[in-house]
Amino acid sequence: MSPAAADDLKRRAAAQALTHVTEGMRLGLGTGSTAKHFVDLLGERVKAGLNVLCVPTSEATRAQAQALGVPLTTLDETPELDLTIDGADEFDASLRLVKGGGGALLREKIVAAASARMIVITDDSKRVATLGRFPLPVEIVPFGAEATRRAMARAIQRAGCAGDIVLRRGGDGHVFVTDGGHFIFDCRLGSIADPEKLAALLAGIPGVVETGLFLNLADAVIVAAPGGVEVVGDPTGAARQNSRR
Ligand code: A5P
Repeated sequence: MSPAAADDLKRRAAAQALTHVTEGMRLGLGTGSTAKHFVDLLGERVKAGLNVLCVPTSEATRAQAQALGVPLTTLDETPELDLTIDGADEFDASLRLVKGGGGALLREKIVAAASARMIVITDDSKRVATLGRFPLPVEIVPFGAEATRRAMARAIQRAGCAGDIVLRRGGDGHVFVTDGGHFIFDCRLGSIADPEKLAALLAGIPGVVETGLFLNLADAVIVAAPGGVEVVGDPTGAARQNSRR
């Protein structure tokens, strides 16, 4: 598929997500190329008079939203949100996600967890039978990074996985630093048989800030494919009302 066709699918998923936004909503705004389309489209609606208040999940999204005149707030001023719309690097049939390819996973997870609902927007290439094809991003504190990496290797083994753990670098060759001042290890695991177990083991390591495993957070995934747009899950959130938080 050409880059332009892939981009068109992302925009179609974003446009469908916009139909779930209503007047007065407090929104979490995701990060990445798909979420960028959503923010663009939301900006058009705001210009036309829609009233929303938004928390961005990265400095990049903040800058984009600000330039479009989308009203912004923080989780300190507005600690409870109605809906977060964000992309993903992978999703499975249980709506479990891998996120963080763009390096914004920590803020993305904080914002998603503060939202009553989360709708994920993707193209069909992100659908997997088993998570792990995309390298799992794990955000870590720079202090003691090598000790943390070794502890992560042990945790990964205990969770029944295997693979290289690689410190993320930017295009300039320097170590990538997140908006929160942290580093990211990308774990090339191939497949993650038990995401819950792996997430719990990694979360128990002192230097680990957060993992890109988003479990029990997404209510629905809007998947754009050449044949049309499919909705997996329940974007209204009603199906998960009792199981979440
Ligand atoms: C950002 O850190 C990520 O979690 C993105 O949401 C994810 O990488 C999806 O990005 P794209 O929409 O660019 O594929």
